[in-house]
Order: sequence, then structure tokens, then C-alpha cells
Amino acid sequence: SRIYREGVLGRRPAVPVDPVRLAAAARRRMPRRAWAYVAGSAGQQATERANRAALDAWRIVPRMLRAVEERDLSVELFGQRYPAPVLLAPIGVLEMAHPEADLAVARASARLGLPMLVSTQGSAPVEATAAAAGATAPWFQLYWSREPDLVASMVRRAEASGCRALVVTVDTHLLGWRPQDLDLGHLPFARGLGIAQYTSDPVFARLVAERPRSRTSARPTPAAVGALLSMARHHPGGTWANLRSPAPRAAVETFLDVFSNPALTWDDLGRLRGLTSLPVLVKGVQTREDARLAEEHGADGVVVSNHGGRQVDGALGSLDALADVAGSVDVPVLFDSGIRGGADAFKALALGARAVLLGRPYVYGLALAGEEGVVQVVEHLVAELDLTLGLAGCRTLADVGPAAVRRC
Ligand code: FNR
Repeated sequence: SRIYREGVLGRRPAVPVDPVRLAAAARRRMPRRAWAYVAGSAGQQATERANRAALDAWRIVPRMLRAVEERDLSVELFGQRYPAPVLLAPIGVLEMAHPEADLAVARASARLGLPMLVSTQGSAPVEATAAAAGATAPWFQLYWSREPDLVASMVRRAEASGCRALVVTVDTHLLGWRPQDLDLGHLPFARGLGIAQYTSDPVFARLVAERPRSRTSARPTPAAVGALLSMARHHPGGTWANLRSPAPRAAVETFLDVFSNPALTWDDLGRLRGLTSLPVLVKGVQTREDARLAEEHGADGVVVSNHGGRQVDGALGSLDALADVAGSVDVPVLFDSGIRGGADAFKALALGARAVLLGRPYVYGLALAGEEGVVQVVEHLVAELDLTLGLAGCRTLADVGPAAVRRC
């Protein structure tokens, strides 16, 4: 209500409240390649449209006169209580949106008390990001490399940095077909952007050094390997300064070789489970069958997500997938893909999500106004969610159930 009152009384926010204007303002501010990478999605963008269509097809059914003056949005996730059921989705290569990248998002997360998911494709080492997030410990998102030692090292670093959960993304074993990036001849990773988790990792440094001669056109020079090794040795977790200098070519090529593993199966999830005592969530589930498989193989939670429409073109709208998954597993279900406002979040909660992840909108806030922009975008969403609860006749998240929505 503070945000609404300030708005009515004439306070102008640092970033547009309206999500369409927010995206448009960010587009004007961001370099062309950065916009293409962040806003872009797969193929002909049918999945991105389906995400919105599903959110629009589900309608809220408000109830009246239910004493909603006091509302409580707080939620418990894996033993932690958070003020609202909203998390910051893992987003790679944030340095394309703002030079302070992950560190600005981490400081925003600390102010909001809502966790960010640190991306494997992050622009700062997890150690630095977690330190900037302070008491609001982040979660770590893992891209499952084909190098088991690298996976183990990243999991260890996430644990040592105080991350509270491990979220393994299973929908990006191959990178989606992204015409916007292809047309600009731009894959950020290939330019050495968004690989700070790797260049700050001692196992990765060893992999670069051992890379067979035959597999590289530009064989790492001893100087490049030496620089990388000393970077990892002397700055466990790297430093902010590292981010500004492009990664050595050998590091980029090694990264491209090891980044993912399309050979994985559900049985491998058990191995990952054995590496950590943190809660493990599987991100990228779209069916009840896969949600059940995740649970059977030891996952402590699933994230229903289609990566914001960036992987499979022509797929199901993610909220329809959530309706299918809801009730099929006992572990908590989180949701993302397409959420732009509080009413969208309400619908996902009504369909069984314990919490939602916000993706592109906070990146737009970051591009426009750094840390403050991220704080405001998330505050606007939470304020609208709070108001929607009240207007729909709900006092707590326990009141937000399937009866509160209908598909039209
Ligand atoms: C992503 N996403 C993502 N997911 C992940 O698990 N690891 C990552 O590194 C990234 N990187 C990334 C970069 C960019 C620019 C975008 C837009 C998205 C997917 C992200 O976590 C989330 O699933 C979607 O962004 C949610 O959809 P919306 O809210 O953007 O529509």
C-alpha cells in the first residue's frame, strides 16, 4: 500500500510501472545486441506468445466481503521464510544490461529480502555475488557440465558461499535456436561474456591447461593458461576486475566444449543428489511425468519453466504446463515464464506454485536504473500481487487455491 499511496500522491518511479513501457524503455536504453539477447526467444517466438496466451486464458475469480484488511504474502521455502513468494530467476550475462550486473542484483535482493538465483552463466563469481547479497543468501543455478569434476567444484563453491539451494536446469542441454542473436552474429559466451563462474574455477583452469592440442584451432598460449591459473589460485572466486577483461580465447573454447551434457538421463540426477546436502530443484519441467521422475530421483522441488520461451519454439504455454503438473508431486513446485505482473503471479500460485521466478522484467529494471531499478520492478510486482490477493478475497497464500482461477 505504501507504493500505491506514493504513486497516487505523485511520486514518479525510476522505472515504468507498466510492464510494456518498462520493456520499451529498456529497449531504448540497451545496445542492440544486449536487447536481442535478453528479449529474444526461440524460433518464431511461438512459445513466448503461448506463455502470455496461457496467462491471459486463465482468469481470476474474485470473492467479496472477506475481511482482507490484513494480508500476509510470506512463504516458507526449504526452511527459510521469505516476505513474498517471488524470486529472481537465474539470468546469465547480466553485464550486457549493466556493468554492475549480478552484484547490483544481489544488493537489490538483499534490500528486498528475496533470493536471487545465481546463474552458472553469471557475470560475477558466485562468491562475490553471495557476499553482495548479505543475509539474503542466494540459490545457485547449475548448468550441468559434461565434466564431472567441474560440476563438483561449482557445487562445492555454491555451498561454501552460503547458497541455500541448488537449482539444476535441465532444458538447456543444447542451446535453443535464437534468430535474434544469430542475425546479429552474436553469441555472448563465444565472446567471453558470462563465463565468470568458469574463469574463477580451479578445475576449469586445469581443463584449459589440459585441453588437447587437436581440439583447438587457437591453442592456449602458455601465457593465457598461466594468467587463468593464477586468476583462479589467487582470487578464489575471482574479482570484479576480471569481468572487465575479456577471457582468454582458450578459456572461451574450453567453455564451449564443456558447458552442457546432452547425454544426461534421470538416473544421473541421483549422482548430483549425492554431491550435496543442499535442497536440489529441477528447473525446466513441463509435464507431470517429468515432475514425478524428478521427485522419484531425489529432487526436493521442481521449477515449471520453459526458459521464457528461449529453448523449444512452438511449445506449451508454461502456465498450462503448471496446471498439468499441479498436484502430481509432493515436493514444492515453483513457476516461471511469462510473469509480468502481480495478477500473473497470483494465477500461478492459484494453480499450485509455491513461488514464482521473475525473469526479463528485472533485467529491464537493471538496465534502466541498476540496483534501484531491480528493487522497484520487484516491489511493483509484489505490491500488485498484494493488492490482487485483497481484491480477490484472499488474506494469505493458503487462500489462493484452484477455486480462485478458471480457464476461459
Ligand atoms: C535466462 N534464463 C536462464 N535460466 C537458467 O536456468 N540459467 C541461465 O543462465 C539463464 N539465463 C537467461 C538469460 C536471459 C537473458 C533470459 C531472458 C533468461 C531463463 C530464466 O531463468 C527464466 O526461466 C525465464 O527468464 C523466465 O521467463 P520470463 O520471466 O523472462 O518470461
